[in-house]
Amino acid sequence: MSHTVVKAYGTESAEAELKQLQINRRAVTEKDIEIDILYCGVCHSDLHFARNDWGMTQYPVVPGHEIVGKVTQIGSGVSKHKIGDIVAVGCLVDSCRTCKNCKDDLEQYCPEWVGTYGGYDKHLDTNTHGGYSETIVVGEAFVLSVPKNLDLAGIAPVLCAGITTWSPLRHWNVGEDSKVAVIGLGGLGHMAIKLAVALGADVTLFSRSTNKIEDAKALGTHQVIISTDESEMEKVLGKFDMIIDTVPYEHDLNPYIGTLNTNGTLVVVGYLGPLDPMVMTVPLIMGRKSVAGSLIGGIAETQELLDFCGKHNITSDVEVINMQEINTAYERMLKSDVKYRFVIDMKSLKS
Ligand SMILES: NC(=O)c1ccc[n+]([C@@H]2O[C@H](COP(=O)([O-])OP(=O)(O)OC[C@H]3O[C@@H](n4cnc5c(N)ncnc54)[C@H](OP(=O)(O)O)[C@@H]3O)[C@@H](O)[C@H]2O)c1
Ligand SMILES: [Zn+2]
Ligand SMILES: [Zn+2]
Repeated sequence: MSHTVVKAYGTESAEAELKQLQINRRAVTEKDIEIDILYCGVCHSDLHFARNDWGMTQYPVVPGHEIVGKVTQIGSGVSKHKIGDIVAVGCLVDSCRTCKNCKDDLEQYCPEWVGTYGGYDKHLDTNTHGGYSETIVVGEAFVLSVPKNLDLAGIAPVLCAGITTWSPLRHWNVGEDSKVAVIGLGGLGHMAIKLAVALGADVTLFSRSTNKIEDAKALGTHQVIISTDESEMEKVLGKFDMIIDTVPYEHDLNPYIGTLNTNGTLVVVGYLGPLDPMVMTVPLIMGRKSVAGSLIGGIAETQELLDFCGKHNITSDVEVINMQEINTAYERMLKSDVKYRFVIDMKSLKS
């Protein structure tokens, strides 16, 4: 099918740094929207994927699934957005739209969901390419509306870091009576805190770092527990209804399970893979506790979150970078040296 060639940033192997590439974007079809990308957030998943941490990457990879931009073209059948609108695209650009999950607004669990990058682009018969690029073409069903009152760089991380923590908060009915803990103060963690606080919950942060205590309090956290300090962990035994675990690498869940109350749930969103040590079942059985997982969120739920952020004036705390700084940003992200999300100003790729 006809296409345009645009500038992007990506990598051709797990070992190589990201560099400027050229990619194809399909011509707009009847239900498509072309978006001039203004900002794109930098998720730890971008780094995992570029470096093949999950063993499933096909190259070349153009990461980026926290996209905010302006509509520049629409197909003849598009009714939801018009040229000039500010819109957003998150981690999904398509799904089968007919299975039970799709009908239930859970497109992220559709067996045929198409990731914004690393998925299969049936139009061009290539990998899908993400937001580290000048433009993107997406079907209108997967394009979201952005509240007008929010900073555009700050809203980008809501599209992944926000929805990945919002979806479990909503699924497990977090509200004013809830005691919630968040493990890890990074991109996902800081959004989890802001959203749980806005829902009225009592929020605790588990962090490895004593130097994040003041920031966590400024984000609205009621308590910070240094997870490497056993006496601190003992203070919160049996306390939480729900824990959102954002840690990206292998770690021991058992000390955290002890801090759940009866019926409490620890929701893993950060780490993909086997656990060592394994989870001990006795504390689960003795308190009807659960360990669960959760993947991003559906399209309707993401729009619900964007609207919630508009109403409560919530954006991410961002450090805006140029596209050319992405390799340094990845190294800094690995050292948790970012407060609390890098967002790329895509003007820098165009110049
Ligand atoms: N399930 C989903 O749908 C979904 C969606 C998006 C992202 N993810 C995944 O979620 C994870 C977090 O992403 P992110 O963008 O928030 O990453 P991030 O900004 O790097 O934050 C991760 C935080 O985890 C803590 N941490 C890092 N390494 C650790 C280790 N070895 N042991 C213990 N704690 C550690 C750090 O907090 P402290 O310094 O406070 O301890 C760090 O700030 C990534 O693996 C990403 O791929 C999943
Ligand atoms: Zn992400
Ligand atoms: Zn489906």
